[in-house]
Amino acid sequence: MALLDILVYPDPRLRNKALPVETVDKAISQLIDDMAQTMYAAPGIGLAATQVNVAKRIVVIDTSENQDQLQAFINPVPTGTGEQVETEEGCLSLPGVIVPVKRHSEVRVSALGKDGKPFELHATGLLAICIQHEVDHLDGKVFVDYLSQLKRDRIRKQLLREGRGSDKSSGQHKESVPAI
Ligand code: NI
Repeated sequence: MALLDILVYPDPRLRNKALPVETVDKAISQLIDDMAQTMYAAPGIGLAATQVNVAKRIVVIDTSENQDQLQAFINPVPTGTGEQVETEEGCLSLPGVIVPVKRHSEVRVSALGKDGKPFELHATGLLAICIQHEVDHLDGKVFVDYLSQLKRDRIRKQLLREGRGSDKSSGQHKESVPAI
C-alpha cells in the first residue's frame, strides 16, 4: 500500500470531473487500498479519488467509531431524500476549514463494492452527509462552493498563505468535526 498526496484547495485539479469505472480489476482494488490508507493516515473519515488526483468515480468512507469499517463506493449514484439539514463539515482538501453546509438528511445510494458487485444502501446521519460530500468531489465540487464569493475568497487566500511548506497535520480540525 502507499500513501497518496491529497490535493489542497484551490488546486484546479479538484475541479476535474471523475469518469465511471468500467472494470473493477486489481488496479482499482489497489487504488482503493491506497485511498483507505491515505484517509486513515490523514486522519479523515472520507476520501474521493478526485482528491488524490485520480479521475475515477471511487469513494472510500469509514464513519465507524473505531475506524474499522471501511466502505468503498465505485460509481456511486446517490438520491437525496429526507429534509435538508445543516451540519458543520471539514474536508481533507481544506485543512482547518470548517463550514456549515446544508444537505439531505438521508440518501439512497447504488454503487459497486470493492468486489465489483452492485449494492444499494440507505444512509442516514453522518454517512449520508459524507456520501453527498464525496460525490460532490467526484463532480469537481468542493463544499466552499456553497458559500458566498466573499467567504470563499477569504478561505482561498488563507489556504494559499498557509499552503506550501506547512505540514498537513497542522490543519486545526475541531475534534468534533472529522474531515471528509
Ligand atoms: Ni472533502
